Amino acid sequence: MVPRSRGFVPFGMGLFLYVKLERRLIVEEKLKELKERAISKINEADSMAILEKARVHYLGKKGELTKILRGMGALSAEERPLIGKIANIVRENIENTLEEAKKAIKDRELEKKLQSEAIDVTMPGKKIRTGRRHPLTQAMDDLKKIFISMGFEVAEGPEVETVYYNFDALNAPQNHPSRDMSDTFYINENVILRTQTSPVQVRVMEKTKPPIRIVSLGRCFRNDTPDATHSPMFHQIEGLVVDKGITMGDLKGTLEVFAKHFFGPDTQMKFRPHNFPFTEPSAEVDATCFKCGGTGCSVCKGVGWIEVLGAGMVHPNVLKNCGIDPEIYSGFAFGMGIDRLTMQKYGIDDIRILFENDMRFINQF
Ligand code: PHE
Repeated sequence: MVPRSRGFVPFGMGLFLYVKLERRLIVEEKLKELKERAISKINEADSMAILEKARVHYLGKKGELTKILRGMGALSAEERPLIGKIANIVRENIENTLEEAKKAIKDRELEKKLQSEAIDVTMPGKKIRTGRRHPLTQAMDDLKKIFISMGFEVAEGPEVETVYYNFDALNAPQNHPSRDMSDTFYINENVILRTQTSPVQVRVMEKTKPPIRIVSLGRCFRNDTPDATHSPMFHQIEGLVVDKGITMGDLKGTLEVFAKHFFGPDTQMKFRPHNFPFTEPSAEVDATCFKCGGTGCSVCKGVGWIEVLGAGMVHPNVLKNCGIDPEIYSGFAFGMGIDRLTMQKYGIDDIRILFENDMRFINQF
């Protein structure tokens, strides 16, 4: 038997080792190649999405590195840790490159954002256009001011109203023409869009004990085809005073103070007999034309007077409907259309323009 000396490797054994060495070198080579490919790919990437794709492709669970490491099964127990070490270094290198690339992209994105959002402080500013109160709002503010100065409070009521408050409680007979489907917008049998602000009278009297002194302003609705003088939506102001000993004289005095404030100190008033279901006696009230003072002009159509409002003493039935004893208390009420007055005041000849929201119109007031 040939003695085995140190360093002597029999031929067969040598081939075996050589093949093993070869295998290890191949794995190492593969890892190196992978590292270079991954790093160059990462350095080319220009978005986070591409970086993430690269990470999954090279380092992910089903990625290239894992695939190579799986092939290590063919290596011997001594070789495996060696390759493992190299693999870890490769992984680390790729991870570091990824981190750096991520940071670079983030910096670039931030830089871009800062540039795009940069403010040129020398640019002239955008002009902010100031709005204006609509002429109707101005009129309503004026009206409120005048009545508040006389001790009235401002009450509110719903625009979607019940037939009870709009008609029944106001003593309107079942066959009153204003109840007709062709005159009033019905939501259903019992609910309508209010045709007047008068239902607020009832709502206030139901809740408040006299003395009562309120005005209420708001939208009303009637089934009118729009034209120059008609709009299915318009505005009214309602007034109501209830107390012991209120008379027609109080009504006249109040309206006169109002008219002098609203139309001018020389304004005169004229009461014409009329009929409303909820007042008795009732009147229509005219004022001397604020434009010509009574001599006749285009605003008053030559008659010197303009029709301003409806008014009267609260009907005892209405007081009773609201739980107020007409033997003890009396009251007056008035109701006035705001749109027509505003049109006359500013010489507006078509009501529809009030509701078109055209800035060229509104800016004139
Ligand atoms: N509500 C009436 C109308 O719309 C006006 C009015 C109110 C009349 C109050 C008298 C009392 O025509």
